[in-house]
Amino acid sequence: MKIESICCIGAGYVGGPTMVVIAKQCPHIKVTVVDINQARIDDWNSNDCGELPIFEPGLAEIVKETRGRNLFFSTNIDKAIDEADMIFISVNTPTKTYGKGKGMAADLKYIELCARQIAKVSKQDKIVVEKSTLPVRTASAIKNILDHTGNGVQFQILSNPEFLAEGTAVQDLLKPDRVLIGGDASTKAGQKAIEALVDIYANWVPNDKILTTNVWSSELSKLTANAFLAQRVSSINAMSEICEMTGADIKEVSKAIGMDSRIGPKFLNASVGFGGSCFQKDILNLVYIAKSYGLNEVADYWEQVVLMNDHQKNRFSDNIVNTLYNTVSGKKIALLGWAFKKDTNDTRESAAIRVADNLLNEQANLFVFDPKVTEEQIYADLDYLGNRFPEDNKNLLQVCSTPYEAIEGAHAIAILTEWDEFKAYDWKEIYEQMQKPAFIFDGRAILDKSKLEDIGFVYYQIGRGN
Ligand code: NAD
Ligand code: UGA
Repeated sequence: MKIESICCIGAGYVGGPTMVVIAKQCPHIKVTVVDINQARIDDWNSNDCGELPIFEPGLAEIVKETRGRNLFFSTNIDKAIDEADMIFISVNTPTKTYGKGKGMAADLKYIELCARQIAKVSKQDKIVVEKSTLPVRTASAIKNILDHTGNGVQFQILSNPEFLAEGTAVQDLLKPDRVLIGGDASTKAGQKAIEALVDIYANWVPNDKILTTNVWSSELSKLTANAFLAQRVSSINAMSEICEMTGADIKEVSKAIGMDSRIGPKFLNASVGFGGSCFQKDILNLVYIAKSYGLNEVADYWEQVVLMNDHQKNRFSDNIVNTLYNTVSGKKIALLGWAFKKDTNDTRESAAIRVADNLLNEQANLFVFDPKVTEEQIYADLDYLGNRFPEDNKNLLQVCSTPYEAIEGAHAIAILTEWDEFKAYDWKEIYEQMQKPAFIFDGRAILDKSKLEDIGFVYYQIGRGN
């Protein structure tokens, strides 16, 4: 089966970059990315790629090379489905905010809408690929909808979860650790569908990195990968608290354990807590799945990863309050960083949001600086929590366009994102401008403790005891 035309439904953080890279590596395939969000599609089509909706290093260059050649962005979803041999579903699968499974289960309404639209429009056999992260066994629901509402055409369902991380998406896609394809190898048609998708990736990914499994293993592997990664962060964060109590240093502990080849050195940075759109959502989804099978111990085990993460964020803000003589009411506190990690403007589930909210509850005056996040986004994140009126958020928190504006006259600085530029600041100058004693709470452990203490700061580093 030779694929000549691909459609991807969903032009977000995953659908966009993934299809851009497929278009680059497969010039013989026409790739059309569609979305219901007209503004997002307009941005993907923006002149000279000036306003792409997603900031990722290296992305704009590839869009310039491929757009209009074999890569197209459109809101004409029916046409793109009709023309495609293979359709990727890459829409959002957020945590449910209503009804059964509220706050835990994945909301699959957007997935179902896609399946129904594909069924309605398709006049020829198609391969449907799950790119979104989905609960295990979702493929059977999609197949059911397609088979019962379609026009009698044959659909093959594949699972092909995405493992890219934001900030390194292009490199992750060009050189993936592995590509995972789940399909039904028990039938000839299923085998052909798997081969068709393998052939696409084989244009640039070495064969030994393309794994094929059954559909359920593939769906579950994606949730498992995110659960393991998040668990590593919660594990090192749990140890960071013990370090602070005992005088150990989490960086030294991370290095010591990371040199064990069975543990490995990556993903062992203690922090103010993990954020991002997926870790919490996917673990809660896993917890919900386990509970729905009556596996309560399994559910409790994984839920602890999220609870530990909440604890880490809360204890960071508690420490600020306790250290500032048990009150931050009316005190100016500078927050450096709002994004959930460096090199992205994404703030979804960022630890900064929780820390800020806790400090606002204590009536602190917050001054926030982030090199990439907009003022609108920061207020939107706080307003979304619904803990106070939008005008109160605006009164209590100012968004600053320079770090110095945030720092001048502050009682304390909290570092919440590990932006490289923070390391290069003139900390001596900053010290001069602050109230004394001048406190720094380094939630990313990026600054040099002894240098800052020599300047005169009272310096607290996550995971480092005195
Ligand atoms: P996103 O919100 O950035 O993008 C999803 C897009 O789908 C939106 O633009 C939305 O308008 C569109 N959409 C929703 N319903 C639609 C419909 N019926 N028809 C057409 N378009 C529709 O989400 P994302 O971050 O790209 O995540 C998508 C999926 O990929 C999720 O399941 C997520 O868990 C998974 N994932 C995300 C990442 C990541 O780094 N963000 C990484 C791996 C996997
Ligand atoms: C993560 C996974 O790394 C991807 O493989 C996955 O595809 C993606 O989720 C997804 O499914 O959405 P992402 O959330 O973009 O990618 O970024 P990460 O680099 O994993 O960081 C997640 C959070 O953990 C960040 O807040 C980061 O600061 C934090 N983190 C990470 C730490 O606190 N310490 C570490 O050592 C590593």
